[in-house]
Amino acid sequence: MKQPGSRRSRLQYRCQECGYSAPKPLGQCPECSAWNSMAEEVQELGPAAAPSRSLAEFSSAPTPLGDLAGEVETTARSATGIGEFDRLLGGGVVCGQVVLLAGPPGIGKSTLMLQAAAALSSGLKTLYVSGEESLRQIAGRARRLGVGGGGIVLLSETNLGRILDAIESLKPGLVVLDSVQTVHHPEWPGTAGSVTQVRECAAELLRTAKSRGAVVFLLGHVTKEGSLAGPKLLEHIVDTVLYFDTERHDLLRVLRASKNRFGPTDEIGLFEMGEKGLREVAQAADLFLEEAGARTCGRAISVSLEGSRPILVEAQSLVVTTHYPLPRRTATGFDLNRVLMLLAAMEKHLRIRLEDKDVFVSLAGGLKMSDPSLDLAACMAVLSSERDLALPADTVFIGEVGLLGEIGRAPSLAGRLREASKAGFKRALVPKRSSGSAGAAGLDVIAVGSIQEAAGWVAGSKKSTMKGEPGRRTLPG
Ligand code: TYD
Ligand code: MG
Repeated sequence: MKQPGSRRSRLQYRCQECGYSAPKPLGQCPECSAWNSMAEEVQELGPAAAPSRSLAEFSSAPTPLGDLAGEVETTARSATGIGEFDRLLGGGVVCGQVVLLAGPPGIGKSTLMLQAAAALSSGLKTLYVSGEESLRQIAGRARRLGVGGGGIVLLSETNLGRILDAIESLKPGLVVLDSVQTVHHPEWPGTAGSVTQVRECAAELLRTAKSRGAVVFLLGHVTKEGSLAGPKLLEHIVDTVLYFDTERHDLLRVLRASKNRFGPTDEIGLFEMGEKGLREVAQAADLFLEEAGARTCGRAISVSLEGSRPILVEAQSLVVTTHYPLPRRTATGFDLNRVLMLLAAMEKHLRIRLEDKDVFVSLAGGLKMSDPSLDLAACMAVLSSERDLALPADTVFIGEVGLLGEIGRAPSLAGRLREASKAGFKRALVPKRSSGSAGAAGLDVIAVGSIQEAAGWVAGSKKSTMKGEPGRRTLPG
């Protein structure tokens, strides 16, 4: 019989990846399929057990939606002034917003956060809690970044109870927790970084944020394999998830939003780490184009769209005679299946023979993109390498290629063309179907309806006889 007040405990095993619990240790987690991820955990049973609250617990009385019409706040946003960061947040942070900023160690989470906190602290009282660094270390970094004291209060602490006390007494409008894996609450089971601790601590801060209308940034580490308790586990309880990562080693840091209740999710922010912290990369053209202007076989430039941001990218290809019974096809930065489809469409509609050729296709700069509007550039790069014919260096190729060899629409064509024009390109091959929305931007726009027309234009441009090409027209700048 259960005695009131008595405490019993039970041993259970919890997956450190997803939080799944089982009475026995398992080699593989049945929930997330991770191997060797189960850790022992003591669960307190009975009345004195840790309160099992729902993760995001905040309550209201049932209210008809109509009654709230007048109350809909025009979400006041606080901008950080870091353009690449604000765009991802949809213009700035919103009161009560909880943001998870995750990334591998050393990517620059603390740096970005200190820079953003410094900017926000002019409008919001800021509490920066570090469980990883001493006050002296943070102050040293702030000096290096040229960040003044402003309204930032620093706290070096790992005990959640004391962090909550500090929030209680300071009443900050912005709380940064660096990192969520280093805090623990002594009354809850497990050590700092364990699933229970991470989840409960984050939930407690979430409740605090929502009830006080404070903005909370949780920083979390992920390893290269994307594992370690934390980020994956918190994705569904926070409002916004930002991932900070590098696509090309050490050169460029890319911030992506994978979830956002108050803004877009398809934007990317680009940063470079320098002597004085993170610098925004506004002009990405120089980074992704290898020696723009050089006439080399096998390269075609396109303009990809990441969210609302057009980025100039370079498709490269190498087509060589194979020495193996099975010709090789490799795609880097592109989806391999997409490339296989494009090669098949080219064989069929352009009547080129690739069955005895190895074909390598890649995106320069180590980028990974899934924008189908890069298809045309990929095809033209392959054609250029196969024919040993350099494409005009001042031309961009934009358009999706379909199974029938037709060139499909490219969304936001006007924005893409503006970006190309800014970078000094003179001409653009665009889908006939979207050319009405091209808006020119001072570029010579050539509308093509099929891959044959595009290939025809390329062959014609070699002889520099571009007059009378199908669909060629110049829109007014
Ligand atoms: P940090 O923000 O500590 O990364 P995280 O919090 O994600 O673990 O920054 C990591 C790296 O950035 C570190 O190796 C040092 C480097 N760095 C610079 O190159 N310049 C700078 O101005 C700063 C502050 C850091
Ligand atoms: Mg850090």
